[in-house]
Amino acid sequence: MAKPTVLVSRRWPGTVETRLKETYEVTLNASDTPMTADELRDALMSYDAVLPTVTDKIDADVLSVTNPRAKILGNYGVGHSHINLDAAKAAGIVVTNTPEVLSDCTADIAMTLLLTAARRSGEGEREVRGKAWTGWRPTHMVGTKVSGKTIGIVGFGRIGQKMARKAHFGFDMKIVAQDYFPVKPEVLAETNATQVDTLEELLEQSDFVTLHTTGGADNQHLMNAERISRMKPGSYLINTARGEVVDADALVDALQAGTIGGAGLDVFEGEPNINPRLLECENAVLLPHLGSATKETRDAMGFRVFDNLEDFFAGRDPRDRVI
Ligand code: DGY
Repeated sequence: MAKPTVLVSRRWPGTVETRLKETYEVTLNASDTPMTADELRDALMSYDAVLPTVTDKIDADVLSVTNPRAKILGNYGVGHSHINLDAAKAAGIVVTNTPEVLSDCTADIAMTLLLTAARRSGEGEREVRGKAWTGWRPTHMVGTKVSGKTIGIVGFGRIGQKMARKAHFGFDMKIVAQDYFPVKPEVLAETNATQVDTLEELLEQSDFVTLHTTGGADNQHLMNAERISRMKPGSYLINTARGEVVDADALVDALQAGTIGGAGLDVFEGEPNINPRLLECENAVLLPHLGSATKETRDAMGFRVFDNLEDFFAGRDPRDRVI
């Protein structure tokens, strides 16, 4: 029997590409450039499976193809706001993602951003490398203490809970959680967390606010000017979720006015383009979407897609089926 044909939209870790090639008729993207809408449409018509990632915008237009050959989109990543799920469903295409395997590393990057913003270590490194450091002095580059402070975790799913553990056990922080769903008491108890009813309550109580919600239209500019103005004076906003969750212009206004202390961002609306005003903010720490970027996690994400394909082509329901 002929092997199913599979299109991989970007370069993946070598070990996973090798495993895919052993099992399927695989086409790799040797140039590693993002695919265009036309290329994505062609792929849907030509392959049995398409394996996209966050840089592939698979919207209703791309999915408007008639009778696509591809019946599964095996997304490399947990977030899927770049895929129009309704349109995929209408086209009869199954969508899977890669949960769990990246929770720890994404929370690690959120904590990296939090510490870097609070302790001004990005600014410090720029000063040292710029040969501008003149030596130790009591008033030099003074930041904000992290240990013992209150952290508000917006979205208390897998990554939010990992963040809570790091903050509670590593930094003795008080955890305030907000989620659309009631969090089980035993889960809250693990980190002595309190769930509040509204985002506004969380913002008013937190020294650090960290976003772990889904992206997409539902949470577009969840952190808008009004909500940013509800944050405590001198507090910090951390975003490792999706860029569209934060209104970047409103954030820059607050950073420039000094109404909040700083921000740490790993994701950006319209990335890799970044609002140029953000680049001017010394009190913003900016990373190039590194949340899941460790060898261990990127391998695990690829093997998770592989498992989903194995399930799908064996006629089983893929373990990480989104729709
Ligand atoms: C994810 O898994 O959603 C990461 O942000 C990479 O896409």
